[in-house]
Amino acid sequence: MIRKKIEKIRDKFQGEIQKVKDRSSLEEIKIKYLGRKGKINSLLKELINIPTDKKRVLGQELNALKEEINQTIKDFQEKILTREIQEKENQKINLTLPGKKVRVGCLHPITRLHSQIENIFRSMGFLILDGPEIESDYYNFTALNIPEWHPAREMHDTFYLENYQDKKRSYQLLLRTHTSSMQIRAMKKYGVPLAVLVPGRVFRYEATDARHENTFYQIEGFLIDRGITIANLIGILKTALSQIFNQQVKIRLRPGYFPFTEPSFEVDMFCYLCQGKGCSVCENKGWLEILGCGMIHPNVLKNGGIDAKEYTGFAFGLGSSRLAQLKYGINDARLILGGDLRFLRQEIL
Ligand code: PHE
Repeated sequence: MIRKKIEKIRDKFQGEIQKVKDRSSLEEIKIKYLGRKGKINSLLKELINIPTDKKRVLGQELNALKEEINQTIKDFQEKILTREIQEKENQKINLTLPGKKVRVGCLHPITRLHSQIENIFRSMGFLILDGPEIESDYYNFTALNIPEWHPAREMHDTFYLENYQDKKRSYQLLLRTHTSSMQIRAMKKYGVPLAVLVPGRVFRYEATDARHENTFYQIEGFLIDRGITIANLIGILKTALSQIFNQQVKIRLRPGYFPFTEPSFEVDMFCYLCQGKGCSVCENKGWLEILGCGMIHPNVLKNGGIDAKEYTGFAFGLGSSRLAQLKYGINDARLILGGDLRFLRQEIL
């Protein structure tokens, strides 16, 4: 009886130990067979009731099994330990792997371009001014020689807000369509002589495409003094653009029309993106319209409280979103304010 039980325990143990994978299952087996209430001990207890001669032989056999189980468990313990060390070894830090990249933010292309242009004009003695994006129709249109009935208002269709009423009168508020809205404010505040640069965000009711956005950036510049002529305007424009592009740039003037300048011009710049061959940014023209300019209309000077008989001045409005497209090779205006991180994360050299 007992002998049979000994054999059964041996067979069971051998079967179970083969399935052991880790320390905890090995510990379970150890307790199951060798523990205080384990299989070996309970069989030992059964030996008590057996005649002495048989007891001696069976006792030896049982002890041999106990020893055998003990040894097998030790062997397995060793195996598991070696395997664990091996695994740890394999997991060691591999210093040749590339590290995690820490992303550092960078300035937006428009911010970079604006600060570069501001520096250029500051070095020429211009005052850099900021202005309100919510403007009254007086500063945006009326004072700039664009009365309410004037068709130019339609070209600058914008987003109209509610009226604003102060003690004297009511103003129609709107999102400014151009930075020219700062001309009169600056003239009234600082008087002449005056050299001002106004970088800022402007808005138009515009269908968007590769060159147009309803929200974009402009830089307004104007200079008023005695004896200012178109030659001064062209000279300053060429100097500034050449510095922005780090090379002599090609520009061309076409006659244009703006109610607040007379005469007026549109200035195109040679398209460096396609080297004049034609692309989507320059609409296959090889030239890109980047600014409007002209000599400040006497009516505007008068509205700004300046004697138009004694003083003359020029003004220009530079489309800095366009200029950024040209300078950084951005082939779609919608990318500039689109917020696409793939665009924004690119490094600008
Ligand atoms: N404000 C004009 C525009 O946005 C540009 C301009 C500015 C033209 C100054 C002449 C003088 O179209």
